[in-house]
Formats: sequence, structure tokens, C-alpha cells
Amino acid sequence: MNEQNTLIEKISTLRRERNAVILAHNYVSADIQAIADFCGDSLELSIKAAQTDAKMLVVCGVRFMAETAKILSPRATVVMVRSDAGCPMADMVDPDELKAYKAANPDTLLIAYVNTTAEVKALVDICCTSGNAEKIVSSIPADKKIMFLPDRNLGSNLINKLNRPMELWHGCCPVHDAVTVEMINAMREKFPRAQILVHPECRPEVVKAADQALSTGAMLNYVTASSHDEFVIGTESGILYRMMQANPGKKFYLLQPEILCADMKKLTLADVERALRTGKDEVVLSDEIIRAAESSIREMLSVK
Ligand code: 13P
Ligand code: SF4
Repeated sequence: MNEQNTLIEKISTLRRERNAVILAHNYVSADIQAIADFCGDSLELSIKAAQTDAKMLVVCGVRFMAETAKILSPRATVVMVRSDAGCPMADMVDPDELKAYKAANPDTLLIAYVNTTAEVKALVDICCTSGNAEKIVSSIPADKKIMFLPDRNLGSNLINKLNRPMELWHGCCPVHDAVTVEMINAMREKFPRAQILVHPECRPEVVKAADQALSTGAMLNYVTASSHDEFVIGTESGILYRMMQANPGKKFYLLQPEILCADMKKLTLADVERALRTGKDEVVLSDEIIRAAESSIREMLSVK
């Protein structure tokens, strides 16, 4: 048996023994997605974490995803596969700066993209993900002032789409912020029949130049339902695994091979096995943070 198969077998045994569920984001490497119990975008992973009664959740993703799972499933042992897998955008909100903003703007409603730390979620009114951001912003009364954080690109794209003014924080995803209109134009010329899909964390001019801006989960649904058979994908390469599996007859081209999230790509199958075996990198949050952050996530999940 080769090394990979040995690891997969160990993971299966440990998962059974620990009554664990392995959740994986669409950006982690294909070998991890292949052994996960559930793969999805940030919204789908949150919903899964809220529904499970597993004793242990192994989160194959970055820190904010593991924290969200802990907040929604506080009795479970939630383990990170790599404790050093963070999200640079989530770190772009300093809780003290946000507290000062709140004190100076008591009438402004705070919407936090789920790519934020638990401490920040505990300070805001409601969360959103790229999968439900339009619905969440639309649910807020028109006369209410909104501060959207941390992603200025997602925020600008929402303002353009919904024609709804919002104040924006000064954050962005370095991976998606680096996507350019020139990249889109070059691929449009090379693959004129292809639909070009980007993530809404891309800059507004990039979103305008593309055919669709969708969360990773919505991208998967879109390519599967579409009558088109060629797609240029402007997001992290991990998404290709499920796209190609579900659509063997369709062609997918990455907008740029360098669209890689270094944090997501830290995780290996050996790390998953170690996380299950040792439970070492457990997410620990205070009851106070869990209670306050849960309220903003549950608020999001309750919007119909
Ligand atoms: P999704 O919720 O669309 O999967 O996005 C998460 C993310 O981190 C995108 O960079
Ligand atoms: Fe964070 Fe960007 Fe990586 Fe998503 S792709 S986890 S937003 S750095």
C-alpha cells in the first residue's frame, strides 16, 4: 500500500473511533476534499456545523472557518488541521479600531463578512457570506446606515448590484484583489466561447468584465446547471476538483494558475491525520465571545 492509501486508511479508522466529521472548504487540495465528509463554501460549511451532532469536527480550511464551526457547535471539539492557516483579510479588522468606530457611529448597522475573527463577529450586528450577501444587505431597511466589513471589493460589488449605499472597511483578499481586467480580456480572446466566472472578492472592474461573480458554492451549481460547456474560472484552483468531477464533459480553464490561497494550500492529508489523532489544534473561544458571535451568525442564518 502506498503512503497516500495508508494515510487514507488511518483517517477512516480515526474518524470512526472519534465520531468525527471532516468538513472541507472548496479551496483545499483535491486529496483532502476527496476524503472529507462534506465539502462546501463558507455558508454551506456554517450550515453543516450548525446541524451536526458529531463529537469532533475537523475543519479543513482557514481559522475563521474553524471558529465559525466552534461558535455554531460549541459542545463539539473543533480542531484545525493547520493552526497557522489564517485569512489575511480576516486579520484586516483590528477589534479596537472597530470598537472605536462603533462608539463614534452608534446608529450604523455593522455587517461582517464571515471572513472575520470570532472577536470581530462578536462586535457586529449580522454576518454574511459571499453566498448570501445580497440577501442579507437587502434585508436591512433602506434608511439604515450600514458599515460593511472587511472586504471593500465585495462591499463595492454589492453597492453596484443593489444600488444601496454602504460605508466600507479598508480590507480585501490579497488573492482575489490581484485579479485584473487584463487577465479577463486575455482569456476572453483565447477562449471566446467560454463563460468567465470570478469571485465577488475581485475588484468591481473585474466583476464587470466577467460574466458572473459567484461564491464558490454558487459557481459549482452554475457550471453544473449551465448549457455552456467551457468555463474560465477566476478563483482559487481548489475549486476545480469538484467542478471537474461533477462535469466530466465540460472544459475548465483557470484564469491564472497563480490564483492560489497560500493559507488553504498549507493543509496536507498528513495534517488531517495528525489533527484527528492528536486533537492538538483545538479551537478555544470564551463563552462570552461564543455567545456574542453566535448571535450575529444566527441572525444571518435566520434571514429568509
Ligand atoms: P466562499 O464562501 O465563496 O467559499 O469564499 C470563501 C473565501 O474565503 C473566498 O476567498
Ligand atoms: Fe482569505 Fe482570500 Fe484565502 Fe479566502 S482566498 S481564505 S479570503 S486569503
